[in-house]
Amino acid sequence: MTKQKIVVLSGAGISAESGIKTFRDSNGLWEEHRIEDVATPSGWLKNRQLVLDFYNQRRKQLLNCKPNRAHVALAELEKKYEVAIITQNVDNLHELGGSTKIVHLHGELLKARSTADENLVYNWPRDILPGDTCEKGSQLRPHIVWFGEAVPKMEEAIPLVQEADIFVVVGTSLLVYPAAGLINYTRYETPKWLIDRNDIALPRIPNLKFINEKATTGVDYLVRLLMETN
Ligand code: OAD
Repeated sequence: MTKQKIVVLSGAGISAESGIKTFRDSNGLWEEHRIEDVATPSGWLKNRQLVLDFYNQRRKQLLNCKPNRAHVALAELEKKYEVAIITQNVDNLHELGGSTKIVHLHGELLKARSTADENLVYNWPRDILPGDTCEKGSQLRPHIVWFGEAVPKMEEAIPLVQEADIFVVVGTSLLVYPAAGLINYTRYETPKWLIDRNDIALPRIPNLKFINEKATTGVDYLVRLLMETN
């Protein structure tokens, strides 16, 4: 029998209980920085050192974080379903939680890429320093999609969402596009679940249920339900 397909769109809220701050909970500042200074191409051109320092700190912080119950529960779904995780998060907590198919829409903190050729991407679990270069001799930058940059992984994400038999959204404010628009690619009849600790403006989408819980308890509840369903 073919397995049903579950597609999960996750955001910063799923990693909050692992100790990683969300983006929009602190007056528009991200770890004390303006997003324009640290997460845009113009920020990079203006002050490369600041941007490198910022992501070097985020990377160090990540290395002390562990996946939580929500990450692990999503991996358990693979026993019964074909599961794809589409995440806006740049951490590796879905991987550490045991999920095997993960699309990182906004890049990965533990990778670096060439400023000359975006296809040159390297595993980089340490600091990126001025003078660290790709094989073509150009400075390396964090492998992160900054505001104003294209999101090439959307091409991989859209067909997954279109084919989903069940669609789950967890821990995202659904404010950042194009990721927030993915839910519009689901089929009408597909059951959709949205899990968030806070009340959020729900998109007008058919067959959508809201679980108003933090990620650890909300995802655990839903996974138990889905594992029991025939
Ligand atoms: P946001 O910070 O915008 O939203 C986080 C969501 O998680 C909010 O809806 C919170 O209510 C919810 N939340 C917080 N703690 C939670 C918990 N313990 N359990 C469940 N929900 C919780 O983060 P994203 O939507 O992920 O882009 O932000 C999208 C993108 O904007 C990010 O990927 C990042 C950012 O700028 C880049 O860095 C390119």
